[in-house]
Amino acid sequence: MDGGDGLDRTGTRSVKWLTAGVGQHAGRIPLGVADMDLPGFPALFAALRDRLDHHALGYTRADPAARERVARWYARRHAADIDPDWVVLLPFGPRTAVRVVLDAAAAGPAPRGPVLTPTPEYGGFAAVAGAAGRAVREIPLDRTGGVYGLPVDELAGACRRAPGAVVALSSPHNPTGRVWGAAELHALAAAAAGCGGVLISDEVHCEIVHPGRRHVTAVHAAGEFARNTVVVHSVGKAFNVSGLADAFLLVPDADLRRRVVATLEGFGFFEGGRLLGALAQEIALEHGGPWLRSLTAGLTHRRDLIVTRLAEAVPGSVDCVPEASFLLWLSGAAFDGARPEGVAPDAGIREVLLAACGVELTDGSAFGAAGEGYARLNFALPEPVLAEAADRIARFAEKAPGRRSARR
Ligand SMILES: Cc1ncc(COP(=O)(O)O)c(C=O)c1O
Repeated sequence: MDGGDGLDRTGTRSVKWLTAGVGQHAGRIPLGVADMDLPGFPALFAALRDRLDHHALGYTRADPAARERVARWYARRHAADIDPDWVVLLPFGPRTAVRVVLDAAAAGPAPRGPVLTPTPEYGGFAAVAGAAGRAVREIPLDRTGGVYGLPVDELAGACRRAPGAVVALSSPHNPTGRVWGAAELHALAAAAAGCGGVLISDEVHCEIVHPGRRHVTAVHAAGEFARNTVVVHSVGKAFNVSGLADAFLLVPDADLRRRVVATLEGFGFFEGGRLLGALAQEIALEHGGPWLRSLTAGLTHRRDLIVTRLAEAVPGSVDCVPEASFLLWLSGAAFDGARPEGVAPDAGIREVLLAACGVELTDGSAFGAAGEGYARLNFALPEPVLAEAADRIARFAEKAPGRRSARR
């Protein structure tokens, strides 16, 4: 299917389009994997093209100016004072970065504690930690007053019982799109410090914060507990270069930083070193601010479109209006009673909408046990395609037996 205003990803081996089965199933709309069916920052792609004209992509040293560039970006964009020495430039993406931090933390003086993660939560933490043989404990988000919050007391209690615990979360949050507050992040950094552990804050969605909200980076929010805090970041999500982006870390503690670099070396990596990813990072951080403002405006407009349409057609389906990024958390319970033929009565909402409307969402179970019964919808796609997806879901919900649409 064509992207509506021109971004056709057929034949690019896009994970999102392959997962949705676009190609084998005419007309399918992919709303799953978290990258954008929207063009990225033109200057970045122009710089990549220029670099490729050189026809030599050999081993490359990390740019010595890259750490200062990261610090300048944080000062300009997030009003955060970052010491360039805290920056560790990685030759791989954020998911692998989490593994490296886990290993580096475990190589320190504290015992190797469990990984505590609030859920629903981006599944990378549980997957990577589990595969590395670490105990993983999911702690459901707080839902006091109908608003998702970090389960600070439960996480702090779990830290007290588990020396060396690692608290891992995404901030802003994938899947709900919440922008966490400084006080809750400070409390979690304190809890991690209290047990000799680490707070890992994965902030890859922080460059797309919707109007009226402000992202606070965890190393800043942590204050006196910054030494027990690590931020994982990458320009991949915001600039649509997750296929090549290098991640970077902010690691205020010098000992932990040394262990991170030693862990990298243990995997045969050295700092920086992935030429095209490093170039994308350079152009994004040096020049990408104004472009991000227009991207955010476009995504906020799309958020309003999809939230309004779904809230009207399927009351209760919008579980949480996102404050950042391009992900919308939907409650499957709102679709109860709507089952297309041939779909099992206990099928999840992803399966139902795929069969009934040809739209592919990510099933909530990918975000831990607390995500079961939910689904995540990625709205970073051309407006006509998003409008078509919303229409299909609305038409299906209105036709479904036993549905109470707001329009009736
Ligand atoms: C919070 C978060 N971290 C990391 C990633 C992806 O990391 P990677 O590109 O290394 O797979 C995602 C992707 O959705 C994410 O939402």
